[in-house]
Amino acid sequence: MKILMVCLGNICRSPLAEGILRAKLSEDFLVDSAGTGDWHVGNGPDKRSVSVAKKYGIDISNQRARQFNPKDFDEFDLIYVMDESNFKDVISLAKNEIHQSKVKLILEDFENKNVPDPYYGGEEGFENVFKMLDEISTQIASKISKK
Ligand code: 4NP
Repeated sequence: MKILMVCLGNICRSPLAEGILRAKLSEDFLVDSAGTGDWHVGNGPDKRSVSVAKKYGIDISNQRARQFNPKDFDEFDLIYVMDESNFKDVISLAKNEIHQSKVKLILEDFENKNVPDPYYGGEEGFENVFKMLDEISTQIASKISKK
């Protein structure tokens, strides 16, 4: 099974989501991430994401940002987006219902549906994002590992 994590820049939230979920799954699963925007293509994750991941024992420093590609709808089984704006952007590229059905708001079952973009804030924003993604990734891993 292949899972794609998507945010806006692919340098703050989705690299964390990729690293955290991968750490909770066996090697039978492939986890990747992408951004809806192209500003940071080829760049490594934001150093604050690298640093909070490292603090919890996860190395995301080798990841490189890429832009979401409509081919990803065929390549991946599940596409988790970080917020409602990412949801709109990704869904607008879907060509059919099968593609649409793969796209999920990662916090869809939570009261606050959005993983806040920590880019313009301080370190504590990254800590908060890490904790949210760690909690939801535990649930996702347990759900998909049973299938
Ligand atoms: P991300 O955060 O979507 O979590 O990677 C952002 C990073 C960069 C920008 C926006 C969001 N940016 O506008 O450059």
